[in-house]
Amino acid sequence: MKKVVLAYSGGLDTSCIVRWLKERSYEVICFVADLGQGLGQGESFEAIEKRALAAGASKVYIRDLQEEFIDDFIIPALKANAVYEGKYLLATALGRPLIAKYLVQIAHKEKANAVAHGCTGKGNDQVRLEVAIGILDSKLEIIAPVREWEFKSRDEEIEYALKYNIPIDVTKKKPYSVDRNIWGVSIEAGILENLEQEPPEDAYLITKSPMQASSYPRYIEVTFEKGCPKKIDGKVFKLKNLINYLNDVGGQFGVGRSDMVENRLVGIKSREIYEAPAATILYTAHKELEALILDRELAHFKELIGLKYAELVYYGLWFSPLKVALDGFVEKTQKLVSGTIKLKLSKGSCVAVARKSKHSLYKKELSTYGAEDKFDQGLANGFIKLWGMPYKR
Ligand code: ARG
Repeated sequence: MKKVVLAYSGGLDTSCIVRWLKERSYEVICFVADLGQGLGQGESFEAIEKRALAAGASKVYIRDLQEEFIDDFIIPALKANAVYEGKYLLATALGRPLIAKYLVQIAHKEKANAVAHGCTGKGNDQVRLEVAIGILDSKLEIIAPVREWEFKSRDEEIEYALKYNIPIDVTKKKPYSVDRNIWGVSIEAGILENLEQEPPEDAYLITKSPMQASSYPRYIEVTFEKGCPKKIDGKVFKLKNLINYLNDVGGQFGVGRSDMVENRLVGIKSREIYEAPAATILYTAHKELEALILDRELAHFKELIGLKYAELVYYGLWFSPLKVALDGFVEKTQKLVSGTIKLKLSKGSCVAVARKSKHSLYKKELSTYGAEDKFDQGLANGFIKLWGMPYKR
């Protein structure tokens, strides 16, 4: 019998896929990745496992990958200051290569000849999963049922699920398509497709409306060691707790929302809104710390690397040689990136207001306009003459 490992979420699509693959004589093994997606009300991993089995899976793997996700995906992207098109901190995009890695690993363990996923044919995620799978094992067959199956609407899928007793909650109306993990929430479809309309408040999951947030600002100090966040307000946190804590606090102040029209890989422009409180706070603090510590040439060059890095993540090229090489570069730049940034959170905004590092290149005796000035202004005269010389005719 043919064997396939399916990336299973517990939702309608992947539940129908289980049955659909069985009808095509596959034994179906489901794999559920816990990336901190914050299961909805009444949902649990046990319930998801039961649903997979009821839909026809022969076996279910549930893996808590949150720590690996943070250590090997989120933190490297943070060190690179990776942001796609100025607004998207890449939560969804970073999760896909990790899911791909485990699909391949479980396929090997189970001696399966194929893997499958529930992505549509219009999005970036199919590309990310399949390119990553192809890099990790080019021999595995990849099945993407949603791209080829007969169902033309959600209602047809529901009908199919009812017919085969696939236990799915069909009463829930889903106004949006949501993808969530510990690094952020991505929300699209429904009313959001109308570019002329502001996203309604009910589209947001983890952030309070900035208008509704307290009018007293909240100060928060983030301490980094070698580019990695370690402490909040002087207290050491495990990374997972640190991120969850910042999601909570940032969310209460409406921090980390973005509303963008982005360029998808498949050539479509799409409107998506994002919530990433912790990612926004950490990105702001990390960049600010680098501003103190990195010299001008390195800082400017690293900015270009960050842009490229974000593209590679977005484009599904996580396991590509270029991305791996850039990690080497970025890691080298982080050696001295230690220190503390104080941020002010207030009604949707997050700005650095104070900074401190033993590796800071800021020298007050050089920049001051006060009496303690040590800068030799006489030197500027010769410097300007030479600097401008090439341009004189
Ligand atoms: N546009 C984002 C990306 O390509 C998120 C995709 C998934 N979004 C969703 N709402 N299901 O990374």
